[in-house]
Amino acid sequence: MEDRKYRSSQWFGRSGKDGFIYRAWMKKQGIPDYELAGKPIIGICNTWSELTPCNSHFRELAESVKRGVLEAGGFPVEFPVMSLGETLIKPTAMLYRNLVSMDVEESIRANPIDGVVLLCGCDKTTPSLVMGACSVDIPTIVVSGGAMLTGKHQGASISTSDVWRFSDALRAGKMTDEEMTLAEAGMCRSDGHCAVMGTASTMACMVEALGLSLPHNAAIPAADAARKVLAQLSGREIVNMVKEDRRLSHILTREAFENAIMVNAAIGGSTNFVLHLLAIAGRIGVELSLKDIDTYSTGIPLIANLQPSGEYFMEDFYYAGGLPVVIRELMEKLNRSSITANGKTIEENYSNSKGYNPQVISGLPSPFNPVAGIAVLKGNLCADGAVIKPSAASPHLMQHTGRAVVFENIEDYRSRIDDPALDVDETCILVLKEVGPKGYPGMPEVGNMGLPAKVLSKGITDMVRISDGRMSGTGFGTVVLHVSPESAAGGTLGIVQDGDIISLDVPGRRLHLHLSDDEIESRKQVRVTETGIGNRGYVNLYRQHVEQAHLGADLDFLKGGSGSGVTRDSH
Ligand code: FES
Ligand code: MG
Repeated sequence: MEDRKYRSSQWFGRSGKDGFIYRAWMKKQGIPDYELAGKPIIGICNTWSELTPCNSHFRELAESVKRGVLEAGGFPVEFPVMSLGETLIKPTAMLYRNLVSMDVEESIRANPIDGVVLLCGCDKTTPSLVMGACSVDIPTIVVSGGAMLTGKHQGASISTSDVWRFSDALRAGKMTDEEMTLAEAGMCRSDGHCAVMGTASTMACMVEALGLSLPHNAAIPAADAARKVLAQLSGREIVNMVKEDRRLSHILTREAFENAIMVNAAIGGSTNFVLHLLAIAGRIGVELSLKDIDTYSTGIPLIANLQPSGEYFMEDFYYAGGLPVVIRELMEKLNRSSITANGKTIEENYSNSKGYNPQVISGLPSPFNPVAGIAVLKGNLCADGAVIKPSAASPHLMQHTGRAVVFENIEDYRSRIDDPALDVDETCILVLKEVGPKGYPGMPEVGNMGLPAKVLSKGITDMVRISDGRMSGTGFGTVVLHVSPESAAGGTLGIVQDGDIISLDVPGRRLHLHLSDDEIESRKQVRVTETGIGNRGYVNLYRQHVEQAHLGADLDFLKGGSGSGVTRDSH
């Protein structure tokens, strides 16, 4: 047994009435005395849920983690937290990311846990768990669930990214309802999260690049036996981390965040990365701004050829060597002495990584796209910033001036977008309001709004689109997102009218509304912002306290942490 007293000894190491209560009820689960006598107690924070289909295999994954914990001399205790299924949760899983983070934080702090394994998969289940754990800051390791196998439909490979194409094809009359139903059954055919570099895979890469997981966490498919092996090894590792007191704050330095931004650029990661990384930095107390996202992305080319920025699927990424190859390629640019979960540096973990398919992961000198990452725009239309993903955008629209076609909210958009009378062509700029953090509320993934039917019917597949909302990590197009301040918080976006002229200049990082400051001000004076959704409960709390997108859309009172100190007894 170790000399050091673990946190859990303040429960199980007590004598008299208190120790009796803490141990006695644990023993009803068939636990012998020696298990609670000074071993590291490892929490397994499980987001298993049949309403989160991407995480539906997590009970098995937890069993692999437990094996590793037991082997290394720890004692595993699995506990549930609220789980967010991206596809089912209304109005958007993002509304509840911060709520889950509170569940995770309080569950860890309140319980006899010395270290924690976070089981993460579907989009929001990663940032919510990492954010909550950061606010406690005990030794923590992430095990991601892995991506699904590549979807198959009529002999072709398909994935979540095709949802948007199928939907446009259906509206343009090029696909039937029957074909849609067939595609539906072929797309999600195994355990795991979305099979492209959408938000879930982006998050799995983010945790690996930050050093919060073992190498290869990002890309092993859910259905591959290697995923269970990784889970077992992670179970072993967390016990070491507790013994060495390797906490999140030791790993999540400013340098680790810089590394994550560079890696995200090289893989063509989701724009949602921006919100989640800023929120995580806010919890662990690292200064990080929207500008840093642009600064550290700039100059990093796209070296992973994965949908939606490229051609291949997460399964192919793993067979090509996975994230370790990307990290090896970037080694010259990364902070290579950053420490990771296993106590080794980025350089020690990754400098000998082997790549197997240059069609999927290229070398730095021969990228798939010289432009990657996330560009941060500024201008009178987004005083605090907006983002665009150049690798998912059309080169001919990167500098574009056009006439605004404005939708006041998502219902307005849905009711008019296919109206033959809508005065729009492909040179116009679609503007959508009231889909920001406060406005919706929760910032839904509607920013990549489908094109008007009359434009689609000409065979046009992209137009400039601007909103204060988000875009699915599987989405693509010349889409300006996260406009801050949002329309519902008095942002200039709220006063844009049909016919106004807007200039997008991605190389110049500008988003400009061609109106005088006086005109903008006088329009703002008369604008009435809707209020009234949810005057009680969590949604009300959220609307009052959510910060704007450029700060990560966390709740203001959740910034920072309250540590891992053990609070007072309940009896
Ligand atoms: Fe869960 Fe895409 S819906 S990862
Ligand atoms: Mg999503």
